[in-house]
Amino acid sequence: MKLLNVGCGRCYHPAWTNIDLVAATPEVRAYDLRRGLPYADHSFDGVYHSHVLEHLSPDAARSMLRECRRVLSPGGVLRVVVPDLEGITQQYLQTLHQADLSDGDPESLAKHRWMTLELIDQMTRQSSGGLMGQTIRQPEATPTEFIESRLGHQVSGNAKVKNRKTIAMRVTRCLSDARKQLALAAVTLIDGSSGRAAYREGRFRQSGEIHRWMYDRVSLGRLLVELGFDAPRPCRAEESRIHHFDSYQLDRDGESIRKPDSLFFEAVKPIASAVPASSESAARAA
Ligand SMILES: C[S@@+](CC[C@H](N)C(=O)[O-])C[C@H]1O[C@@H](n2cnc3c(N)ncnc32)[C@H](O)[C@@H]1O
Repeated sequence: MKLLNVGCGRCYHPAWTNIDLVAATPEVRAYDLRRGLPYADHSFDGVYHSHVLEHLSPDAARSMLRECRRVLSPGGVLRVVVPDLEGITQQYLQTLHQADLSDGDPESLAKHRWMTLELIDQMTRQSSGGLMGQTIRQPEATPTEFIESRLGHQVSGNAKVKNRKTIAMRVTRCLSDARKQLALAAVTLIDGSSGRAAYREGRFRQSGEIHRWMYDRVSLGRLLVELGFDAPRPCRAEESRIHHFDSYQLDRDGESIRKPDSLFFEAVKPIASAVPASSESAARAA
């Protein structure tokens, strides 16, 4: 079985090919998905991405899904996990009603505020972590159990891997930081403090952290069908048409769901739909 984890972040399995914009460890290939996928047609039996699609603009997301289809073998399974717009909206409305009826109860207000952040913060934030991060770091003012029920235990900081960087990765990082500092100084010189602020915000928005769209079971299903996938359907975290998926523990930590706020969704590349290798894809794979 050849399996690809796209935008894996810190959640990867060594049996998979893992890629991300930022490589946290040498097992992950650093690659910008907006350039397509650097693999030949029909290379994988399963492609998975979790909480990645919403980080791409609608156009870039379509291109990325087309690329997922291209690199899948006929009959291969695409598994997409995204924050569930339907579930988030339902929770938002529920906490809104409770807060409205609560006569100023601090816990009800805090839950309503949290759901507002889930809807908006990751699209609008201007620095890493945003208001969600600030809220999580203030346990006295935060309904921690409620947030864990939404985001899983990642909130308490039990990420799957710690950063482990080779010397080459550290040098690349230092050079990249130095280049950004130089660019910041040049922009400030030319365009003053407002140019500096705009450059900083733009760089942050390019960093892969912000959300550029959201999906529900209807919009995601229709999108996948439009792009030539078959049999689209939501599933549970522990369920998959990728063989032994649950054993890799990508969507679960033991018995608990890693990201409970998610929509888990799968579709299949039709058997009779071999996509001819384009010269672009062949060049990338070379
Ligand atoms: C919310 S994290 C999810 C990480 C992991 N899949 C998980 O479920 O924990 C989003 C990931 O998408 C990656 N990402 C966002 N834009 C990307 C791009 N253009 N190319 C590659 N990776 C990207 C980020 O670097 C980040 O690791």
